[in-house]
Amino acid sequence: MELEDLLKEAEKACPRSYAPYSRFRVGAALLAESGEVITGVNVENRSFGLTNCAERTALFTALTRGITRFKAIAVFAPDGDSPTSPCGACRQVLSEFVSADFQIIFGNSRENYVVTTMGELFPHSDLHDLKDKFE
Ligand code: THU
Repeated sequence: MELEDLLKEAEKACPRSYAPYSRFRVGAALLAESGEVITGVNVENRSFGLTNCAERTALFTALTRGITRFKAIAVFAPDGDSPTSPCGACRQVLSEFVSADFQIIFGNSRENYVVTTMGELFPHSDLHDLKDKFE
């Protein structure tokens, strides 16, 4: 699947965003290695700190379905003046499951987007890989 098509899937999810406090809607679409697309939206809460971003919603939904290998994620946030990139928490959480060449596309419209990789947004995360220690 092309990254631009993945961005459209993120756009389609966007109306289901629950963002009554920020009024900032975000949709995410995660592309699994199998080709399956899993979407997510941001879910806010009146206790503000409990907000879950669209990216983590998509990731947690995929993992719950037993999908663990991923190629790319698209993030669509139409309420911004410019494309919104994944927040620090989402970069950290995604880094647990994806490699440096995982592709990331984020846009505020179908025409205005940025294409990058996990390695660019969150470099050197492998330096803190604890998995071996717990196997
Ligand atoms: N948000 C996301 O869902 N993903 C991002 O990449 C950036 C921020 C959400 C969190 C909050 O509900 C709203 O956007 C404003 O920050």
